Amino acid sequence: MIEHQDQYEAEHQDELQHVSFDWMGGEAEDRTPADLKPEVPHPARMYDYFLGGKDNFPADRVAAEKVLAISPLVRIGALANRAFLQRAVRHLAEQGVKQFLDIGTGIPTAGNTHETAQRVNPDSRVAYLDNDPIVLVHSRALLAGASHGSATVVQGDLRDPGAVLDDPQIRKVLDLGQPVALLLFAILHFIDDADDPYGLVRHLVDALPSGSYLALSHGTADFMSAADAAKGPAVYRSATAQLTMRSREQVLRFFDGLELAEPGLVTAPLWRPDQPARETDAMTGIWAGVARKP
Ligand SMILES: C[S@@+](CC[C@H](N)C(=O)[O-])C[C@H]1O[C@@H](n2cnc3c(N)ncnc32)[C@H](O)[C@@H]1O
Repeated sequence: MIEHQDQYEAEHQDELQHVSFDWMGGEAEDRTPADLKPEVPHPARMYDYFLGGKDNFPADRVAAEKVLAISPLVRIGALANRAFLQRAVRHLAEQGVKQFLDIGTGIPTAGNTHETAQRVNPDSRVAYLDNDPIVLVHSRALLAGASHGSATVVQGDLRDPGAVLDDPQIRKVLDLGQPVALLLFAILHFIDDADDPYGLVRHLVDALPSGSYLALSHGTADFMSAADAAKGPAVYRSATAQLTMRSREQVLRFFDGLELAEPGLVTAPLWRPDQPARETDAMTGIWAGVARKP
């Protein structure tokens, strides 16, 4: 576990310098390490903690433990979400999808999108995008060290879809004239209503050709008491992104105009499961679905 930013920087010196040089747009001599703001909880690092990862700071762990105190099932939800990501990406690759735009990548862990897709089709091309510098550090290290096909990671923000679509690094890996699977796993609940999450998704989907897909998962309080439902967002108030959980009906709206694949919008463990369902699966607080653009 990481206790101090110093230790973190020492362990990731090379990648940090690379990242700061790359995305802070500095001059060659300006190699200030990325400010990871270890004192502020970051959703990516809290999620890493939920998944049992080690790439998190004390502030992330304190905030994550507060969430787990409200509902220990959040950890189950995180694991179920990750497993859904892998089944959905595998399914899409098996449908012949060769290009993936994965927004809100998260800190790499087991079974990342490019690994899952390239296991089905080694020619799969993947562009990752996240707005958290720590994600860039780890993803670049992973992509540099792995025997990957065509994959890239860029810093960017879902709230600026025009810039995402115009990003030269993304355009180098993805041909947006050909079908693309847009992956929004466990990110839209970090987009406030004020930032028009439906408009952002529409902007991206509209830019993709027929035969493209939208796959997403989204945190929900549908299975919580009203009192508990209010506590989760309160913990995230001190974090770098706010939490807006949405009901099934609200999540369904993201798929307007698209053809939902079977079994429709269901809780994450129930989306084409690899194993027999358990009683609690239907109450996991993550809605999950995959849809095709006609
Ligand atoms: C809970 S993690 C999900 C990681 C991965 N997609 C998964 O499902 O396993 C959410 C990720 O979204 C990123 N994120 C949050 N808001 C974002 C935004 N506006 N633009 C880009 N990334 C964002 C966070 O930094 C974090 O890495």
